[in-house]
Formats: sequence, structure tokens, C-alpha cells
Amino acid sequence: MKGIVLAGGLGSRMFPLTKITNKHLLPVYNEPMVYFPIRTLVEAGIREILLVTGGQNAGDFLRLLGNGEAFGLRQLNYAYQVGEGGIADALRLAEPFADGSPICVVLGDNIIEKSIAGAVEQFCKQTDGAHILLKEVPDPSRFGVPAFNNGKITRIEEKPANPASPYAVIGVYFYDSTVFERITTLRPSNRGELEITDLNNSYLAEGKLSYSVLDGWWTDAGTFESLLIATNLVAGSLKKRQDAEESTASGATILAWS
Ligand code: G1P
Repeated sequence: MKGIVLAGGLGSRMFPLTKITNKHLLPVYNEPMVYFPIRTLVEAGIREILLVTGGQNAGDFLRLLGNGEAFGLRQLNYAYQVGEGGIADALRLAEPFADGSPICVVLGDNIIEKSIAGAVEQFCKQTDGAHILLKEVPDPSRFGVPAFNNGKITRIEEKPANPASPYAVIGVYFYDSTVFERITTLRPSNRGELEITDLNNSYLAEGKLSYSVLDGWWTDAGTFESLLIATNLVAGSLKKRQDAEESTASGATILAWS
């Protein structure tokens, strides 16, 4: 499976922070935002990765990420999105890179606590279709939201005023090779974008969309509030890990004494 990180867009919800840089280069506690989706893929065993970006600051990604050395990669691939056509439009650019392989797409502002290795493994066994990950959230209206009937998704609505469930469709998606043909059938939404939700609904219409519920915390970092939440969650996780390492180390010292 190949991985795609979508890191384009104007980041207009975060002006003036994004006036002179790309949203995905902003810091989330101690690292640039884009590090997190890349690490999500690498830690799940995906090593062939394409980063799609655009705008005035695309060159900064190359300076920051190079060949992916910080993630133990030997090569990182890049594509440039001209204009602002939305998430599904950016994904179109990954067609030559995917070259018929199944793909895992991660939105560049999505930060998750735990590994998605289980979902990757499961999708590798699924011969076709798509798989999405859900997370219960307090504010579903900000996201793509599934409606259910008897545990089956019946439709997904993008940013509904009256959400049909408390779940958000998070920005990690698994697609088979029909994804690019499907994108050509999409029409721009009211906000003038090709929506990833419409893409997911095209799989759903054919009974080819499966889902699982994500374990551990998840947040986007694309608004001032969610960037603050992301920063605190990342800082908290890091502190927990350091405390655990310290107590293991002191335990080892005590063992050595006895
Ligand atoms: C996008 C998707 C939405 C999804 C969200 C996850 O929203 O359109 O369906 O739930 O990412 O972060 P946007 O970032 O465009 O608000």
C-alpha cells in the first residue's frame, strides 16, 4: 500500500498565521504539523509516500522534509496542486504515483494518538472498495458525519447543521484503484470544492465502503481552537511517554542495585 499526505489549501481559517506560510508547516507543540501525518503512515509500515501541496510555500516542504530522513525514509515524493480545488481535487494528482496500488490518504492537519497499522493490515486483505475511520466527537457539525441504520452507514453528510450521529469521519481514508476514476465524476460542492465526502459516498452507493472506529485520541489542527487542542494532546502524550521511560529507567536502576 502507498501513502498520500494532502497538505495544500490556503488555510484561510487560520489567517493571519497562514498569510506567509502553509498551515501544515505551523508548529504543533514541538514539531511541524506535517510531521504527524507522515509519521502516522511510516509507523503503520507504509514507506512509499507522496506529499501533495501547493501555493507560495511549497518549496519550504522540500527544505523541511528533504528525502524523509527524519522518518527513516530514503525517498519522499512530491506533487504540486495548482489552485484550490479541495481535498478530492488534490488527491487526483496522486494517480501516477499510486499506479494501480491501494492507497492510504491522510489529511495533513490530522493528528492521531495511536497506530493505524491494524486498519492498514485489514484493508490489505479487502480486495476492493474503501475504508474510513470514525471517532466520536463533541462537535460533529465541523466534519463529515455518517448516518447509521442497524450499524450500517446509510450516508455521509459534510458539515451538517443537524448531525445524524456523534461521529466524525476522520481524515484517514483507504481506497482501491477505482478512486481516480470516481474523482472525475464528482461535482464541486457549495463551497466550490470536490469533497472527499462525495468520494466516500460514491463507494457507499455501491456497498463498497467499510468503517472502523479509531482507538485513542484524534484531532484536526486546522482551526485556532483545534490547533490548541492538538498542541496540548501532543504535549500530554509526550510527557506521559517521558514519565513512563523515566520510571522504567529508575526501575532498572533499582533492579541493578538489588
Ligand atoms: C475535511 C473533510 C471532512 C473530515 C475532516 C477531518 O474537513 O471535508 O469530511 O471530517 O476533514 O479532519 P475540512 O478540513 O475541509 O474542514
